[in-house]
Amino acid sequence: MQFQINKEKILIIDFGSQVTKLIARRIRELGVYSEVITPKDLTKLKKFNDIKGFIFSGGPSTVTSLKFQSVPKEIFEKKIPVFGICYGLQLIAKLFGGKIKPSKKKREFGRAILLKKNNSLLIKNYLISKKSVWMSHEDAVVKLPKNFKVIAYTRDSKLTIIENEKKKIYGVQFHPEVTHTDNGKQIFKNFLFSICKIKKSWSVSSQKIRLISEIKKTVKKDKVICALSGGVDSSVVALLINKAIKRNLICVMVDTGLMRKNEFNYTYRLFKKKYKLNIKLIDASKIFLKRLKNISNPEKKRKIIGNLFINIFERESKKYKDIKFLAQGTLYPDIIESRSSTGSRTSKIKSHHNVGGLPRKMKLKLVEPLKEFFKDEVRILGKSLGLVNKINFKHPFPGPGLGIRILGNITMERVRILQEADYIYINELIKNGLYNKIWQAYAALLPIKTVGVMGDARTYENICLLRAVTSEDGMTADYFSFPKNFIDNISNKIINNVRGVNRVVYDITSKPPSTIELE
Ligand code: XMP
Repeated sequence: MQFQINKEKILIIDFGSQVTKLIARRIRELGVYSEVITPKDLTKLKKFNDIKGFIFSGGPSTVTSLKFQSVPKEIFEKKIPVFGICYGLQLIAKLFGGKIKPSKKKREFGRAILLKKNNSLLIKNYLISKKSVWMSHEDAVVKLPKNFKVIAYTRDSKLTIIENEKKKIYGVQFHPEVTHTDNGKQIFKNFLFSICKIKKSWSVSSQKIRLISEIKKTVKKDKVICALSGGVDSSVVALLINKAIKRNLICVMVDTGLMRKNEFNYTYRLFKKKYKLNIKLIDASKIFLKRLKNISNPEKKRKIIGNLFINIFERESKKYKDIKFLAQGTLYPDIIESRSSTGSRTSKIKSHHNVGGLPRKMKLKLVEPLKEFFKDEVRILGKSLGLVNKINFKHPFPGPGLGIRILGNITMERVRILQEADYIYINELIKNGLYNKIWQAYAALLPIKTVGVMGDARTYENICLLRAVTSEDGMTADYFSFPKNFIDNISNKIINNVRGVNRVVYDITSKPPSTIELE
């Protein structure tokens, strides 16, 4: 359990919801320090002095089963406010004698209208009469626990917000942490400042000096190796460590050949010339293509790319003496996720490649200066380290790169086609002032060809799929609504300039049910 002592905090108990980390994020955004722990961690907790509030997350379990994830009942006797969300509400209701039913017929997924019944500190400046909220539940509380009051309801669930004002216990059935809930942040504001009465004490920029001095203290005179990709996380890690230990940081850039057009060379030159980093470049594009030949299964591709990367990086690192540390751009959400996969139940959707296998294989100690931060906080750090906007505000890019955006077989020709199409698409977004309004955008090649007609002749070419989503953490996402003139022109621009594409389609699916990447 990672835990900062002597720091006023809110503890989030994670019951395995896919969006628990968003709760922590909302709280950080409000200038309050929070940590996510498992229900098991909670049972081991001895001191409660600095804890100003508990939040119980949602989760896939059901309190209607005989064995369900719970918390020690003494938690409620400590005069520390408690706020339950979704499963968290159901758990509170169950522990206080309410009744919960698996509501097979009246499941609520997606948008619902919340209606007010009573006043409460929790809904101050939030719920005047009705609000649009985001629901995702099958079970529902059908009988109010003793000494609790109903604050709000929806058409399908009569007990959507409940409270026990005296004991300062609150519960909501919907998810105020997701952006689809209109102004959900106000609910957290009310819980933190009106109910828990915690003070603001968290800001990212004040952490830079502490991080640099911690790196110096940990690494001392030893060498650190770092895989630099040119994404925000590895770039900020490299700049931070470089500030602390200069030439003792060795950055390795592995060119998989699956990066965007020109991106690899740009990153190399920038970090070598502008930031004066000690960088070793490895061109491995041919071997990646060779290993991926005729592989079209997404998980197989992910594994091949991840393992090959690790082997190449490990081989390179052996050429250096005295390397004791491996630097990684692990973020706080990664910590929550890896921990919750053992602590509580979060379903695995894809095998992510973010050089996660390296430390085990290389037996090096880890330096992970970003492990307390969320992505947007990393960008604040990046800015304060002088990282150029082009990298600091770059859209996320997956570890396996274009390998999972070329559906079906990956060939040099298909990589070229995709790089060209993606280059045009991204540049058009920038030119039209849309890039920064979109969380992530990319082009992909579908695994089928279609017939077209160009210059009076039949063509049989690739379909280029465009994706653009708005999101906050990649956990949930909505497709971006393009202005009509953009969507009218982009297809022609791509087809006229990229040989090998005769059709362009736009993906209009949200996440869930889709994911952001196609594979
Ligand atoms: P999905 O497709 O799961 O993606 O909705 C969510 C976010 O994660 C990125 N992504 C990855 N990032 N290694 C990474 O570092 C990976 O293997 C990987 N796969 C997906 C994706 O681009 C999106 O931002």
